[in-house]
Amino acid sequence: MDPTSFVLFGATGDLAKRKIYPALYNLFIDHKLPESFSIIGLGRRTLSDEEFHKHVEQSLITFSRRSANDPSRLNAFLQAFRYRTLDVNHVEDYRKLLELVQRREKELNIRENRMFYLSVAPEFFGVIASNINESGLGSTDGWKRLIIEKPFGRDLESARYLNEQLSSSFEEHEIYRIDHYLGKPMIQNLEILESSNPILKALWSNHYIANVQITASETVGVEERAGYYDHAGAIRDMFQNHMLQILMMFSMQLPKKCDAHEVRFKKRKVMESLRLLQKEDISHHIVRGQYTAGEIEGKHVPGYTQEPGVAEFSTNDTFIAARLWIDDFFWSDVPFYIRTGKRMKEKSTRIVVEFKEPLGGSSDQTKARNLLVIDINPNEGIFIQLNRKDPLQDGKLEPIRIHYSDSEKNAPEAYETLIFDAIRGDSTFFVHWDEVELSWKWVQPILDAFEEDRIPLQAYPAGSNGPAASDQLLEADGYTWWLDS
Ligand code: BG6
Repeated sequence: MDPTSFVLFGATGDLAKRKIYPALYNLFIDHKLPESFSIIGLGRRTLSDEEFHKHVEQSLITFSRRSANDPSRLNAFLQAFRYRTLDVNHVEDYRKLLELVQRREKELNIRENRMFYLSVAPEFFGVIASNINESGLGSTDGWKRLIIEKPFGRDLESARYLNEQLSSSFEEHEIYRIDHYLGKPMIQNLEILESSNPILKALWSNHYIANVQITASETVGVEERAGYYDHAGAIRDMFQNHMLQILMMFSMQLPKKCDAHEVRFKKRKVMESLRLLQKEDISHHIVRGQYTAGEIEGKHVPGYTQEPGVAEFSTNDTFIAARLWIDDFFWSDVPFYIRTGKRMKEKSTRIVVEFKEPLGGSSDQTKARNLLVIDINPNEGIFIQLNRKDPLQDGKLEPIRIHYSDSEKNAPEAYETLIFDAIRGDSTFFVHWDEVELSWKWVQPILDAFEEDRIPLQAYPAGSNGPAASDQLLEADGYTWWLDS
């Protein structure tokens, strides 16, 4: 692995504390960081290196998967960290930063491989990228890379603008766009699940699959993020990115090999085949919801518009369900149903594949549908629902479930996997600009319809599975959401 300088913007922020430091530490413990590495944290606050070390240590104690109790290991890790105050708008600050980066590179005797991680609000991405370029930080004798996090824009136009800004300082292959769902082990497993299991591979198409349901439900509400969320909604916060990424990863045709070029190519093909919603029938395929007061796990919780920081008459969506069609050879005529929402009954991200009735099969009404269920989050697991005869019930059919669950494993978190890949230069599980652009293109008519109030806002009580209209979306096609009870 190449020796690396890891330059972290937003070093005193929440994401760094909760995810990035623990991820780096766990990689360090697992010997998955380069032998020589320097980490430079940047923020608006003034902090000494010692204070910064304390800050990082505290984050590890609170959030790390692996214990931070061993002082010698901890100190070995922390000695790589330095801190500088930086105003993202001042190119002068970047020049001083360059001196520090170079000094550390000399001290460690390493090549100028520089990873810039922008853990800051997206409105700063453009100015930071351009100042990295202008200050000379981006001129290296090794490689340079930029890591950014969603949201990548708030609609098609702003996403394109952001991309133009970034691409004047970084090439596409140098930009690592994180969608943390792509770092989840079960998402990374989808391709293997299909390619290495002939019984699944043989069934993975419209010949045998009746429909596919992708759900990401959360029990949390808007939390302390009303300022952001009330202008984003479920559509920008989850649907345009995480949900469409799951769809792509699930439905892409198997790549010849699992590398960045192939996987991204196949994902793009899915997005290009996704049927565009027409203005006149958009409301038949999309459900927009917002939670009202209700009960979750025995506790009363307020409705969305009573949450602190949310506008009193906000029509923001906290739930969205959609019916989609992939018009290609393999998936035509298979509806994909996607839903995501806050304050729902349970925290769960899963894919349910419902198989068709066997041709010429018995007309026994008790027969359950064959299902393949892929649990992604918070527990990983797979189960298959089949039918058997119950000898104690006069041979009546009963469904059986063959279950595998991974909840015991202390598996690497998404951020660990993704940071490791970025340092190795493997962008397979990062979002390519084409995917960003195509997904915004697909979502844009829905954003417009929300804006123009062409899709009714449906109320659903906190603690439920979303509005009734989301059930009707499937009922209209003769299906139901599985595993809702
Ligand atoms: C984030 C969203 O991207 O994903 C949050 O901004 C959401 O609103 C979170 O809660 C869900 O992630 P996970 O990994 O808990 O399913």
